[in-house]
Amino acid sequence: MNTSAQSHSLQKPKILVARAIFPDQLAKLEESFEVQSNQEDRIYSADELKKALSGVVGALVTGSERIDAGALADAKDLKIVANISVGYNNFDVPAITAAGVMASNTPDVLTDTTADFGFALLMATARRITESEHWVRAGNWKQWSLINNPLGMDLHHTTIGIIGMGRIGQGIAKRASGFGMNVIYHNRSRLPEADEKACRATYVSKEELLKTADHVVLVLPYTPENHHTIGEKELALMKPTATLVNIARGGIVDDLALAQALKAKKIFAAGLDVFEGEPTVNPELLKLSNIVLAPHIASASEKTRRAMVDLAVKNLTAAVAGTKPPSLINTEVFKG
Ligand code: DGY
Repeated sequence: MNTSAQSHSLQKPKILVARAIFPDQLAKLEESFEVQSNQEDRIYSADELKKALSGVVGALVTGSERIDAGALADAKDLKIVANISVGYNNFDVPAITAAGVMASNTPDVLTDTTADFGFALLMATARRITESEHWVRAGNWKQWSLINNPLGMDLHHTTIGIIGMGRIGQGIAKRASGFGMNVIYHNRSRLPEADEKACRATYVSKEELLKTADHVVLVLPYTPENHHTIGEKELALMKPTATLVNIARGGIVDDLALAQALKAKKIFAAGLDVFEGEPTVNPELLKLSNIVLAPHIASASEKTRRAMVDLAVKNLTAAVAGTKPPSLINTEVFKG
């Protein structure tokens, strides 16, 4: 082998890490790859992303990178886009598949952390925890009172309605059973009997769920068909004492309709981790006190965020090595 051929064979494959990751995880990647990283964590423009994807064999991306035909236009060497996220509505999967690129996500590793957060947000919403904290900080707490301090809604022995009964929805159902809650759910397809039993959950129509649940939790993936699953009409079906929690994706709820329903006290309160057009939050929501707001952090424990990166790296490494990524979305692209 001549020297130039030798040095060519020693060259590490080039990859892109499109957002900041933990420095030790980046250092580990640099042992095997030539990494173009973005530790500054500034989100690329569409043009910057297109340029960054050109010449790399793999890319670790997140929900903030829209991967479509335009982004892939110059990505002639790309084998995989590995999302560090379970949701992949940032992927135009048909366009990625048409480009012969594999797409992967990070299921399972975030299920429990996300279900914990869904339950925490539900509790904070129903029991008015953040509103109470603001009230205390504002110096409003003059005396303990039976009736004149913030009064919330119970969770125990009430009915929780879960829309979207995938892994995370089932995780929330199991937590709800521990609180003695009656669990009803609606999903695109009904769960097998054994899974319903394990979750102690009863399948109902969306309309029945909205009419009967004391607490409605949204955990469904975002698709064009799921756009505004909860809008004015659906909010009108809910009980005036009900809470609504969205840990799914912005766009599943019509945020303006929700703000109007909360303002008019058509429902009791809402807890939102995701928003239409996030990180911008509809200003009408910001004016309200019967709402708990979080910055898309349902999977945000350090352990889980590390596990998400690890799984995305496994997917990328497998694709570059010519083996099947463990959580490949468009399996038809893999030529084993
Ligand atoms: C997910 O994994 O889908 C989380 O929402 C982070 O994007």
